[in-house]
Amino acid sequence: MKAMFDDYIEIINSALDGYFHPEGSASPRLMEAMRYSLLAGGKRVRPMLVLEFCRACGGTYAEALPVACAIEMLHTYSLIHDDLPCMDDDELRRGKPTCHVQFDEATAVLAGDALQAEAFRTILTADLADDVKAKCAAILARAAGTEGICGGQMLDIQSEGLILSRRELTEIHKRKTSAMIEAACAMGVAVGRGSEEQMSAALAFAADIGLAFQVRDDLLDTISTVEELGKPIGSDAGNSKSTFATIMGREACESLIQRRTERAKEALRGAFADSRFLEWLADMLANRRS
Ligand code: IPE
Ligand code: IPE
Ligand code: MG
Ligand code: MG
Ligand code: MG
Repeated sequence: MKAMFDDYIEIINSALDGYFHPEGSASPRLMEAMRYSLLAGGKRVRPMLVLEFCRACGGTYAEALPVACAIEMLHTYSLIHDDLPCMDDDELRRGKPTCHVQFDEATAVLAGDALQAEAFRTILTADLADDVKAKCAAILARAAGTEGICGGQMLDIQSEGLILSRRELTEIHKRKTSAMIEAACAMGVAVGRGSEEQMSAALAFAADIGLAFQVRDDLLDTISTVEELGKPIGSDAGNSKSTFATIMGREACESLIQRRTERAKEALRGAFADSRFLEWLADMLANRRS
């Protein structure tokens, strides 16, 4: 499974490398900033989910590749903006200076804006059937907008300094993080022309690994190291954020992550001919150190 994971990383990275070349562009600095953040590394979880759900539904990973690249563009935009001084104000991302530190704030804002727009262009100009492209664009738009990242990030910012309940925090995490994980899985099923049953199973899986993913992220902010994580430690405490780590403590977080991961894996069983890689990936994410 690790070999398959490594193969996927290579496939995704080399496809992403095909976008946004500064040479000959009217705005080379913008392209450079977009490439800088997009190709800085990252686990590539969301594109991997797109590719593997397409394959699990009987499609090929290759047909889903533009859609996989698109979600990574949108995700990278969300990270660039999340790190801005007016947001989390962080200076390290994916082991490198954040986009606004490496370039400047205006360039980082524009690189994020452009990555978001280019994500939709990448889907809508892909060599896929029109109905599939329309479906994917609608799925991604929902995950990016008021019901997804932007809505979740707004609540996250408004909650700074407050002590939130587990229910309130779950609502924030659902929007700012799970929505994109759900979109990745759903777009994979859409490209692979999976059944309704497969779509429901994928969404159930995604809702659980999505929450577990952000709880793990919150936990790593308190227990990891800068070297391992490639981003600052203690960023949440520095911004007075309520997180699962602060309201529940480490052990309860670990057990929540394991419970959700088990339930996620169960949701896949019976719906797909082969869900072994997805189950392996869910476990890997639950135990990740970065
Ligand atoms: C970080 O996402 C932001 C969250 C939603 C928790 P990732 O942990 O997927 O970051 P990269 O893509 O690997 O850098
Ligand atoms: C942000 O969550 C999730 C996004 C929508 C980008 P965090 O603020 O916890 O993400 P990190 O820890 O900076 O990656
Ligand atoms: Mg944040
Ligand atoms: Mg942050
Ligand atoms: Mg975090």
